[in-house]
Amino acid sequence: MQEKIKKKIGIVNAGGDCAGINAVISAVVKAGSGLGYEFIGFERGWEGLLTPLMYTPLDLNAVKNISLLGGTILRTTNRGRFGGKVGTGEKGVIPENILKEAKSHIDELGIEGLILIGGDGTMTAGLQLAEYGVNIVGVPKTIDNDLGSTDRTFGFSTAVGVAVDALDKVRTTAFSHDRVIFVECMGRYTGWISLFAGLAGGSDAILLPEFPFSAESFLRFLRIRRSEGNYSAVVVVSEGLRIGEDLVHSGTVSSEVKLGGVSLQLMQLVEKLAPGEFEMRNVVLGHVQRGGSPNAEDRNLAKSYGVEAIEAYARGEFSTIVCLKAGVMKTVPIAEAVKSLKQITPEIREYHVAKKLGVYLH
Ligand code: F6P
Repeated sequence: MQEKIKKKIGIVNAGGDCAGINAVISAVVKAGSGLGYEFIGFERGWEGLLTPLMYTPLDLNAVKNISLLGGTILRTTNRGRFGGKVGTGEKGVIPENILKEAKSHIDELGIEGLILIGGDGTMTAGLQLAEYGVNIVGVPKTIDNDLGSTDRTFGFSTAVGVAVDALDKVRTTAFSHDRVIFVECMGRYTGWISLFAGLAGGSDAILLPEFPFSAESFLRFLRIRRSEGNYSAVVVVSEGLRIGEDLVHSGTVSSEVKLGGVSLQLMQLVEKLAPGEFEMRNVVLGHVQRGGSPNAEDRNLAKSYGVEAIEAYARGEFSTIVCLKAGVMKTVPIAEAVKSLKQITPEIREYHVAKKLGVYLH
């Protein structure tokens, strides 16, 4: 009997890592093998598709036991020749020769399409490759949870958990020393991690990039707290908060600003406005929020995205991204999915709850 020729699919993960990528890869390979596909994984993000080609076969054996691992077995980069997004809402145009090279490698390898795991930058780049004739189904990935088309991205819940652990620890030392401690969370231009972690961790203030910040109002809040006998405070600060005109960052790499440091600036500002009034410290959580094993929620979400992505691929729903909307998995055109950032508004339940509980939200 003649053996059925299997269709080969490439898996690409690009951009920053987060907990749960391996669970997506594993789910795609396991569910896809059952549908008659075979897989290769490109390494180091988009770079793997370019010269020198870097890829590895992904069969059932290769994905055994990887769902519980943090990071990505394929390695990744958010730099390189395929940079697809250069800031909020801006699209970096990928040079024609790079798109051509990736496409010809895909053809040479006999690959008929890609499962693309990434955030808005990766999807913006993927869209350009799709316009070049590559079949692509995307899976949304970012700890920031800021993709407009989907209610929840995997990696977010694990990052929130890391931040809550840190806040719990900061709380006892802040209390013991009568200190104000600023805890800076990732999230780029949105404050989802800050809000969810801040609420769960019982923070006294949560400073979000979505709302204007007033130093006077914040100082008033600290003074009132103290006059009421609360000598310590834990303040969550989103890395994308603007305390002046500009974002606080440490430079631009591959056209993307490297955020970080706003909690230190805020501390210095309070000291300048109220010299010696408060004893303060700042903690930047940074990449610990991205590392480690995915929690149960993220594993299951990642597995769901993986299964949905390969099923959408099998249905021929190309140039789409799988999304979770009100508990239901569906596909949305990539072009639509990358259009808007999902931002926090006062209507968000956790914002409302925090407000009602007396958290300072400016
Ligand atoms: O987008 C995910 C994210 O972790 C952001 O929250 C953060 O600003 C950025 O990536 C950090 O990127 P890098 O790994 O390049 O420092």
